[in-house]
Amino acid sequence: SNMELIEDFSRPPLVPVKGIPLIKYFAETIGPLQNLTVWPDDLLISTYPKSGTTWMSEILDMIYQDGQLEKCRRAPIYARVPFLEFKCPGVPSGLESLEETPAPRLLKTHLPLSLLPQSLLDQKIKVIYIARNPKDVVVSYYNFYNMAKLHPDPGTWESFLENFMDGKVSYGSWFQHVKEWWELTHTHPVLYLFYEDMKENPKREIKKVLEFLGRSLHEETVDLIVHHTSFKKMKENPMTNYTTLPSEIMDHGVSPFMRKGTTGDWKNTFTVAQNERFDAHYAKMMKGCNLKKQATF
Ligand code: A3P
Repeated sequence: SNMELIEDFSRPPLVPVKGIPLIKYFAETIGPLQNLTVWPDDLLISTYPKSGTTWMSEILDMIYQDGQLEKCRRAPIYARVPFLEFKCPGVPSGLESLEETPAPRLLKTHLPLSLLPQSLLDQKIKVIYIARNPKDVVVSYYNFYNMAKLHPDPGTWESFLENFMDGKVSYGSWFQHVKEWWELTHTHPVLYLFYEDMKENPKREIKKVLEFLGRSLHEETVDLIVHHTSFKKMKENPMTNYTTLPSEIMDHGVSPFMRKGTTGDWKNTFTVAQNERFDAHYAKMMKGCNLKKQATF
């Protein structure tokens, strides 16, 4: 019943799996997920949360549908691009959505490598990874925690920022995540992209994706994809903006999923002192990692 649904979403505490804090229901899927059968033409979209996953998902579905808008309106984004570890009472799980998905499949995950099904790595499944400025990620994540009721209460902004820096939020450390997926690029087919680059020149980044996939599209189709996947278009599109989920799961009245879609919004939330602390922490955590040279943030 609806009452049970609401009670179930009483913001359960995170559950650690191999030391990684996860949403309670997601933690329950990590075991079963290890038996995942992958297909050679699967494509995995991997990100730390709030880094542009939904944006890249819509871009990829549009590429796969040759830019045919009606086909991309067939279902909400979470049904078109199954979210592997997703589980929530009353909603189809990621594994259930997968059963309805024909090849070639687009798969989404936020898992760190230690929790990822080994089959994805063994079979060298192509991966598109997106990283985003962690200051914008943590602001986006704080708003998302507030509106997405599967998360615990985020507490104050100050305490959430501390927890984020310590890796004590859902999916653990941002620093560990971007670094380990960066290391994977040396041994695995990973296209490693940045949210900031997508904002700066979406067409250039979509062309990188096409090249990585070994696909080509007419110039007009690429332009159409850029247009259709703009923040404004995706915000007003019910098939991409998550408003089709029950409000017990996501309350867009608290903060819309499609919130701002900009770079540098952190400046409206961080204090000068928080920014200095964060910069020092970033330098320490990212020391010796050449990812820093690639990042435009
Ligand atoms: P903000 O909260 O900063 O607005 P994810 O899909 O990985 O959960 O990431 C969500 C973030 O990406 C949100 O950031 C959201 O607004 C932003 N986003 C979603 N679609 C976008 C688009 N088409 N263009 C730019 N940003 C987008």
